[in-house]
Amino acid sequence: ISTMHMSIRVLVVSDSRSSGEAQDVAGEKLIEALHKMFPHAVLARSTVPDEKAQIKTYLKKYAEQNMDLVLTTGGTGFTPRDVTPEATREVIDKEAPGLAYTMLTRSLAKTEMAMLSRAVCGIASKTLIVNLPGSPKGAVECLDFIKEAIPHAINCIN
Ligand code: MTE
Repeated sequence: ISTMHMSIRVLVVSDSRSSGEAQDVAGEKLIEALHKMFPHAVLARSTVPDEKAQIKTYLKKYAEQNMDLVLTTGGTGFTPRDVTPEATREVIDKEAPGLAYTMLTRSLAKTEMAMLSRAVCGIASKTLIVNLPGSPKGAVECLDFIKEAIPHAINCIN
């Protein structure tokens, strides 16, 4: 597979974004950044509340559809509603700790608050799933830290 044909989904995990109460800036910024990184990839975005069962339903659907890459944004922190890593862990077949480690260590050089993200990355069927933090700046920063490895990762999975 070449980056030409990559299919990428952005899943915005947020109670307030999914209810329409708050604007989905992180989702917009991520789509913008992805468009620059992989100009020919097919991109789409969905929004889901911070509910583990609903997050899992989306992630499983994307894996069944053989999406190449799913980027979640939000729900990786310490509040009681943050369950994106738990949902991700229940869907993946294999963990990809190197991606999470890279995002964490490089983020720590920018902000100590990075230690509050519990992001999980892994492979479900033929789909690479990456948890990004919910802040637009944090989400795009973390994607930037791992972007070089994404095409090769997807090639390996396939
Ligand atoms: N990582 C980067 N690179 N930049 C950031 O601004 N914000 C942190 C962290 N990771 C941040 C970051 C903060 S403040 C939190 S609370 C956690 O991500 C979890 O965010 P989430 O619950 O919205 O996923």
